[in-house]
Amino acid sequence: MSDRSTPGSGPPRRGDRPGAPTRLALVGAGRFGRFILDVTRNVPQVAPVVVADIASEQGARLAADAGCRATTVEEALVAADVDAVVIATPPHTHAELAQAALRAGKDVFCEKPLAATPGEAAQTRALAESLDRVVVVDHVMRYNPLLRAIQTVQHHLGLEPVRFLFENDAADESLPRDHWFWDEASSGGIFVEHGVHFFDAATMFVTEPATSVTAVSTSRQGWPSPDLVTATVTHGDCLATHTHSFTHAHRCERQLMRIDYGSAEARIAGWIPVEAVLDLHVDPAGESAVRALVASPELAGLGRGLDGWHVGVQADDVAGDAEAMGRGRHFGASRRLTVTLSLGGEAAKQTVYAACVAAALRDLHGCRTEPGRQPLSGPRTAEAAVVVADCATRAAALRRAVAVPTAPRPRPLVDHLSAKETL
Ligand SMILES: NC(=O)c1ccc[n+]([C@@H]2O[C@H](COP(=O)([O-])OP(=O)(O)OC[C@H]3O[C@@H](n4cnc5c(N)ncnc54)[C@H](O)[C@@H]3O)[C@@H](O)[C@H]2O)c1
Repeated sequence: MSDRSTPGSGPPRRGDRPGAPTRLALVGAGRFGRFILDVTRNVPQVAPVVVADIASEQGARLAADAGCRATTVEEALVAADVDAVVIATPPHTHAELAQAALRAGKDVFCEKPLAATPGEAAQTRALAESLDRVVVVDHVMRYNPLLRAIQTVQHHLGLEPVRFLFENDAADESLPRDHWFWDEASSGGIFVEHGVHFFDAATMFVTEPATSVTAVSTSRQGWPSPDLVTATVTHGDCLATHTHSFTHAHRCERQLMRIDYGSAEARIAGWIPVEAVLDLHVDPAGESAVRALVASPELAGLGRGLDGWHVGVQADDVAGDAEAMGRGRHFGASRRLTVTLSLGGEAAKQTVYAACVAAALRDLHGCRTEPGRQPLSGPRTAEAAVVVADCATRAAALRRAVAVPTAPRPRPLVDHLSAKETL
């Protein structure tokens, strides 16, 4: 299933401007809106022309810094010299703004989450599909070369995750008590505001859809909403556990994504993944397949725009039987491989972050201009993440498991691998 149901049948994307960049209106001139505009400086495929913010002075300041026109939010959504609207406002405003932009004939680059509720996410996705407009949702992890490299190895070796785990000890130093992040009516709560990144990332690896969620949340005394949450999502016979703790100093932040395949394990460090290790037990044919992949242009090309991109393989013989068994499945395991993948480590985090946003912006432009092209992070996968996040929020409040309603199926793994957008 694709991420747009009727590709190529809607209004022309480039109109009478072939070869021209996609002209952007930014709505939301806050921290991340400013970052997006900084990123656009290195993305010739897009050109910001308009900035708007409900706090008009803030909008005007960023517009002046970026050499754009400052305008009202209403005007930005319909401006004749704008092709696509970038939405970088708090989550509860995303659906209304995105839908207004779509109705005005604009394509949309929406910050995550696609919406604060599943109902609004479904409406936005359905509207984009009925109007055949492009919606890219800025789930930056979809564009990260490390994750895509691990997807590639998983796919070629036929590995299936038994467990997915994300441990997120995040900073709250820049989140004072009165920040909208802590107001669940504005943010949707931690699972919706931040968790969607990882509910979505899990589906890059776990192909079975989510069926049920259990969750627990807690908080420091007197705090307006939970600051420590954990959810376990059942995907067929795979369990995915997501823990988010917004309780740390910036310098004490730690994140680990772990994908356990039984015979193999991926450990990925950083909330913006910058380093990963794949530990694989394989037979000689598996070793050859991995070595061929590591040397292939497919894998090498994933991070070609980043100086720090490096993939290495180390192999050892394993003493004992050439076969092993786990969960009732036999596999050849005479060789142990360690594949290390790096984007330059912690020091490269901001560069990698910017490169992933740049790739998402190029994806927007590519989908607008290349007939039939689908976004790597579109409204279907983004809606599915909001649906699971909402179940997690309810499961924590109700203190019982919540069944996940059927959302439109994300695209199969193989589609992600063949997607064009690389760094
Ligand atoms: N993809 C990522 O990695 C990533 C990282 C950080 C933030 N985000 C997302 O970006 C969005 C913005 O976050 P932020 O940290 O920049 O917040 P922020 O508070 O710094 O900025 C939000 C801006 O939106 C403006 N605003 C609020 N309601 C508005 C409305 N109805 N119309 C126009 N402007 C309005 C505010 O005045 C403010 O300037 C959030 O959805 C957040 O989840 C994404």
